[in-house]
Amino acid sequence: MPLPVYLETFGCQMNELDSELVTSQLRTLGYRFTPDADAAQVVLFNTCSVRELAEQKVWSRLGELAIRKVRQPALVVGVLGCMAEREGEALLKRMPVVDILVGPGELDKLPGLLDNAVRTRLSLAHDAPVVPAELEQIPTALKKSLVSAGQSALQGNTTRRSSTLAAAADSLEMLDLSRATAPEDHHGSAYVRITRGCNKFCTYCVVPYTRGAEVHRPPEHILDECKRLADAGVIEITLLGQTVNHYRFEHASAVSINGIVQPQKGRIYKANEELADAYAGERVTTFADLLKRIHDEVPAIKRLRFVTSYPRSFGNDVLQVIRESPRICRYLHVPAQSGSNRMLQAMNRGYTVEQYLEFLDRARQFLHQPEINRPLTLAGDIIVGFPGETEEDHEATKTLLRKARYKNCFIFKYSPRPGTTAYDKLADDVPDEVKRRRNNELLALQQQISDEVGKEIIGRTLQVFVQGISKRQAKVKSRAAGSGKVALTIGGRSAEMAGDHAPEQGGACSVNGSHITTEIAGDENGRNQPEIAQFEARTDGDLIVHFDAPAAESDHLVGSIIDISIQSVNGLSLTGRRA
Ligand code: 5AD
Ligand code: SF4
Repeated sequence: MPLPVYLETFGCQMNELDSELVTSQLRTLGYRFTPDADAAQVVLFNTCSVRELAEQKVWSRLGELAIRKVRQPALVVGVLGCMAEREGEALLKRMPVVDILVGPGELDKLPGLLDNAVRTRLSLAHDAPVVPAELEQIPTALKKSLVSAGQSALQGNTTRRSSTLAAAADSLEMLDLSRATAPEDHHGSAYVRITRGCNKFCTYCVVPYTRGAEVHRPPEHILDECKRLADAGVIEITLLGQTVNHYRFEHASAVSINGIVQPQKGRIYKANEELADAYAGERVTTFADLLKRIHDEVPAIKRLRFVTSYPRSFGNDVLQVIRESPRICRYLHVPAQSGSNRMLQAMNRGYTVEQYLEFLDRARQFLHQPEINRPLTLAGDIIVGFPGETEEDHEATKTLLRKARYKNCFIFKYSPRPGTTAYDKLADDVPDEVKRRRNNELLALQQQISDEVGKEIIGRTLQVFVQGISKRQAKVKSRAAGSGKVALTIGGRSAEMAGDHAPEQGGACSVNGSHITTEIAGDENGRNQPEIAQFEARTDGDLIVHFDAPAAESDHLVGSIIDISIQSVNGLSLTGRRA
């Protein structure tokens, strides 16, 4: 009987990809995944440390599991990702319920650790004393031993995490290479990592500490992965890296172990003479080269985009490749973080507001061509309330937002992260209510700009990639009224609910955290209408588009690209009709 595993992902797209790789690795080994945490024997959290709030959510979930584990001693709890890397043994001490800690640099080792933990917990559960139904009746010492026994055997693995990060990158590469490419895992769209880690050390950010130094994957591996995904029906690929435009692979310094080219650090290596000869004339693959190769060599990929771009060192060579390549999306997510030069300097961003805006102008010159239906859309990130931020700095950020005209911008309140330079050296001196007000002001301003950007698109017909039935407001008018069985597709995944789990007519239910409402209607003559569902899709510029279509068409619509004529803007999304 395969062990049921529940895996929950917090944070960014990089974490989503890591979770996907972990899932495919564990599935191959016979584990079965369940969306129901209560039914799982293994609960894994893939965590994020970028802001304190993300960590708090995990702490509270772990607290809940500690209570459950007293009753279910065979339960295995694992913390993966950035919190595991950042907190290390402190996390094990604070939360004895945790059996396994695996940082992002050691995810390939998860199966061994998990197997060990499962065995340990099972044998403990077998020997465990009978637990009284009332938790209060259990002596504290027994509670502790029931929950944390077996943990120390795994603790050693956490202590070598950081020291082995560089070596781990090699076997991590195997994890990316061995990903499953079954069509049901992708629904037409997939992430592909091109770079791990980050070398920028922005003063507020934990990523360089939790994900380690920048390591670029060999272009052959990336291309191979794109081809395999395309063969499995994927038509949209998003390349991932913390600073994608810094991608650079120096072939002359590449080393091959057992036929696998090793990923390399983002710095010039001393060339190995022999290999240099072997790669003569083909020394470096830049980001522009990589984009062009994927575009030209994998034409089945109809949409290629990448996140996140760093505002510095974004060359015209990249812009030129995007301009010449019809299947590369004209979308850039390029965080500014602040519109004040003083703040940018304190954040160690390495550019000025003027240089940032010069880059956006350059990008627009190359890529903004609404006359041929190829507008450039931009997205940004801003941090409000960084130490020392004055009203003047805040006003400067508003000016930047007006000039940048992002289609959307993620706005974050500064969250001091232990271990970062800002945490160590700068007092978190902007009061929370000021952060909140500035955050709200920027959100309101950005909403206005998003509306304007959206309105410019009304009346156009755009190609959209259909992701699934709208998560927020899935409307189903069901022909199957009264059958008690409703089929829904959520975010590209299908869920069939019957009996107890089927929503009431017109009622609401929750599947994997998405709230779905159904409307089961007949016409005035009592005949039932075909099911109409609201679908969610994305434009080439990453704008969200909703449109209605018969639910029965879901199988061929989801994962395909279709023409939609845009009718209106509401909030951050557009509404359209099939053209
Ligand atoms: N506090 C608030 N926001 C942060 N980000 C990164 N670190 C912090 C922090 N300590 C934001 C940045 C980054 C995004 C992924 O998260 O805007 O671009
Ligand atoms: Fe963090 Fe800066 Fe690297 Fe982005 S570029 S991951 S903000 S250190």
